[in-house]
Order: sequence, then structure tokens, then C-alpha cells
Amino acid sequence: MTLHAFYTRSAEEVLADPRLPDMHEALLAELEAGTLRAAEPTAEGWRVNTWVKQAILLGFRHTSLVEMPGYGLSAVDKTAFPPRAFRLEDGVRMVPGGSAARRGAHLAKGVVVMPPAYVNVGAFVGEGTMVDSHALVGSCAQVGQRVHLSAGAQVGGVLEPAGAQPVIIEDEAFVGGLVGLFEGIHVRRRAVLASGVVLTAGTVIHDLVRGRTWVKEVPEGAVVVPGSRPASGDYARANGIQLATPVIVKYRDPKTDAATALEEALR
Ligand SMILES: CC(C)(COP(=O)(O)OP(=O)(O)OC[C@H]1O[C@@H](n2cnc3c(N)ncnc32)[C@H](O)[C@@H]1OP(=O)(O)O)[C@@H](O)C(=O)NCCC(=O)NCCS
Repeated sequence: MTLHAFYTRSAEEVLADPRLPDMHEALLAELEAGTLRAAEPTAEGWRVNTWVKQAILLGFRHTSLVEMPGYGLSAVDKTAFPPRAFRLEDGVRMVPGGSAARRGAHLAKGVVVMPPAYVNVGAFVGEGTMVDSHALVGSCAQVGQRVHLSAGAQVGGVLEPAGAQPVIIEDEAFVGGLVGLFEGIHVRRRAVLASGVVLTAGTVIHDLVRGRTWVKEVPEGAVVVPGSRPASGDYARANGIQLATPVIVKYRDPKTDAATALEEALR
């Protein structure tokens, strides 16, 4: 039985099936290998595999808490999702000092994870991507190749609060320090998010170049910086209140490339 056929039944049927522990192990192994993804690029655009998220959630329901003495004196978690161990042949640099990737996370060859950082279950991190200190790659988030996730970048997950589409960051995007991407934001190829930009599903991005707005999507090559706009209403006007709003100030050019160039020596 395929994983898809096994998990796309009712939760009660799946939980009562004695094959569940083996299927769960196969689910984690395929997620780690990157052969199964919570969302994936296709010729028609990105496809979200909602059942993968459901399968992960069932993993939480069918296991109980256990002490995990190998991972710190007070580590206690669900048996289904222990931390991932890495071997030299994985080609991942998991720099010591307090980072963890959970089982069911895919980290491709050439990924560097600087401590402390966390990569949650179902996340996909493509080749050559840097996950810098204090960065979070939330559950099922999809991060492309040669992406730079700067220090403190927070990429939200879909498990809680439950979200439909994971955050997607395409190849060669640059995510600046302390950027927050939540609620299924889709950052297209080579986009640049300046330090401190925060995007949620309701954030309107103003594009000064094309004279339009974007919601839930950062177009290819856009350079987004934090901005503000006057809040509406008499009270706001009278008190000079501004609301934060991200702004596309330009599309990537050689100056941006120079400002965001990756350092090969670090890879
Ligand atoms: C976005 C960034 C890459 C600059 O890109 P750039 O292409 O060189 O941008 P430019 O200098 O040409 O600036 C274009 C416009 O945006 C404005 N701008 C640039 N960065 C800005 C920022 N962070 N906040 C607000 N405005 C910004 C500039 O003032 C300029 O405005 P103007 O046209 O009115 O003069 C840079 O600001 C940045 O955020 N770097 C990432 C830093 C970081 O997080 N490092 C991680 C370390 S771990």
C-alpha cells in the first residue's frame, strides 16, 4: 500500500491500522530524502500535498511522550518525532552548538545550519542553503536552493495554528536578518527581503516599480524593505498614526547582487 493510499483514509481507520508504525517510519524516511514533500513545484506551479500535513499530525496522535536522555537532561517529546541524526555522507554541515532538525525534515547536500537554529518536521531545505543562527524553518516550510536565511529569520510552519499552504521560498532568494514569513507566504526566485520585513497572509505589499499591490506573494527578483503608510480614519490622521507596510523599492540589479552575494568559502 502506498503512503498516499494509507494516509488518505479517515483518521480513525489510520490510527486503528497495525501497519501505522511502519508507515510512519516510511513517511519520515521519504520526507528526509526529499522524495515526498508537503508542497512541490510542478509544471503548472506549486502543488500543496495537504495529506502529508495530515499524516504528520496523525504521528502526534499515535505516540506518547518519552524521555530522550541522549538529547539533553530534560528532553521529553513525542516518540514519533525525535531529532534527526546526521552522518558525513549526508553532506550537511550541522555546526555544533545547539541546533536541531527534527525527524522528517529534509536538508539537502551542502546545507549549512549555524547554531542555534531549528528545522521542524516536514520542512524542505534545498542544496547550498544557509540557515543562519536563531533562524527557524517551521513545519512543512519549503526552502529552495542557495537561499540565504539570515540570522533570526523566522519561517512559520503549518501545524499550529493550522495553515493550508506552507511558506514557500524559491531558489536564490535572500531573506534578511529578523525577517518573518508566516501563513503561506510565497517568495519567488531571487527575491530580496531586507532586514525586518514581516509578511503574513493579510499584509499588503506596495510595489513602487509596477504601481500595484501584492498579497501572499513576493514576485521574482523584488527587493522588499520595511515601510509605513498613514493609517485611515480621523483619529489616525489627527494623531499621525502610521501602519507598517512592506514596500518593493526596486527589482534586483547588480548593486543588490553585490549586497547579497553568498560567500563560497562558507559552503
Ligand atoms: C535590501 C538590501 C540588500 C539593499 O539592496 P540594494 O539593491 O543595495 O538597495 P539600494 O541601496 O539600491 O536601495 C534602494 C532603495 O531602498 C532603500 N532601502 C534599502 N535598504 C533598505 C532598508 N533596509 N530599509 C529601508 N529602506 C531601504 C534605499 O534607501 C533606496 O531608497 P531610494 O531609492 O529612495 O534612495 C539591504 O538593505 C539589506 O537589507 N541587506 C540585508 C542585510 C541583512 O539582513 N544581512 C544579514 C546578515 S546575517
